[in-house]
Amino acid sequence: MAQPLVAQLESLQKEALAALAAVADEGALEEWRVNYLGRRGPLNTALRSIGDLPVEERPAVGARGNEVRRLLEERFDERAQKVREDAMQRALVEGAIDVTLPGRTPPVGRLHPTTRMLREICGALVSMGFQVVEGPEVETDYYNFEALNMPPEHPARDMWDTLWLEPEQGVLLRTHTSPVQVRVLERMQPPIRIIAPGRVYRYEATDATHEAIFYQVEGLVVDEGVTFAQLKGTLATLLRRLFGAERRVDFRGSYFPFVEPGIEVAIDCFRCNGAGCRTCGESGWLEVLGAGMVHPKVLANTGHDPKRYTGYAFGLGVERLAMLKYGIEDIRLFYSNDLRFLKQF
Ligand code: FA5
Repeated sequence: MAQPLVAQLESLQKEALAALAAVADEGALEEWRVNYLGRRGPLNTALRSIGDLPVEERPAVGARGNEVRRLLEERFDERAQKVREDAMQRALVEGAIDVTLPGRTPPVGRLHPTTRMLREICGALVSMGFQVVEGPEVETDYYNFEALNMPPEHPARDMWDTLWLEPEQGVLLRTHTSPVQVRVLERMQPPIRIIAPGRVYRYEATDATHEAIFYQVEGLVVDEGVTFAQLKGTLATLLRRLFGAERRVDFRGSYFPFVEPGIEVAIDCFRCNGAGCRTCGESGWLEVLGAGMVHPKVLANTGHDPKRYTGYAFGLGVERLAMLKYGIEDIRLFYSNDLRFLKQF
């Protein structure tokens, strides 16, 4: 009677150990425990049936049964530990950082070429004693034109294609930084020595050298005894600072209603040294700014006595200077947000 039960225990042990060897995760582990060691499992059932054996057989079979149970419990604990260690190992490997991978360089910002050029221009002029001021980009007809000696219907207004915000009220986007001259003259007394950098707007079809939105730097000096020679000296010094001490500077007659006389200033082309090339349109010269002696009417319009005071003013295009300095062939590159272009600076 005891023999079948012992055989049953033996085969149960064999089967349980084989099943345990195949257990690979926590879920299977628990399933195995309930199956083989649970209260309603085959082992417990077998152990309970020992009570049906003749009394003298019970101790030996009971001892064997307990051995089987202890063995299965031991092996279960071992297996459980192995399964947990394996799981941990897998998690470590899956979440691991490969320290041999090359690092990812974060993109580093840089200054826009317009900003670089602006800083260079302003830096040079500040070192020559100019003070930086700013004026509004939304202007009125009075400051942009009228006070600058361009009354309504003045033909020179056509030189600046204007973006009007409220035409009836004469509100516009400034077409140049010259209105800052008027604002400064209204609230400062000579000696005046200022520069006014800023954005300007023109209702203009864009091409390689024309943008509708660009930057200018205005300069204004007013005092007793200011001369044209001082204007020439200041501009020649500035341009040689920016483009090299060997540059020749050419002053040519020009017309702006708010200066008299008016000039345009050119430097000999730094690419071909004046011989003529594509950059200078074969002329050997590059025009870089407009300037002149402040018109007596502008001084009078702003309450200064033109018999007592004289002055000079200039206005330069920042992108145009940057194009020359950095060899940029198309002004539209400045604001097209192409990183391939911007990364070069
Ligand atoms: C003026 O705007 C005058 N206010 C300059 C001036 C100031 C004269 C003080 C006398 C006394 P002009 O329109 O030429 O002038 O423009 C001045 C500079 O701005 C030009 O030399 C050029 O470098 C730049 N510029 C003009 N139009 C454009 C444009 N559409 N895109 C980019 N740069 C421009």
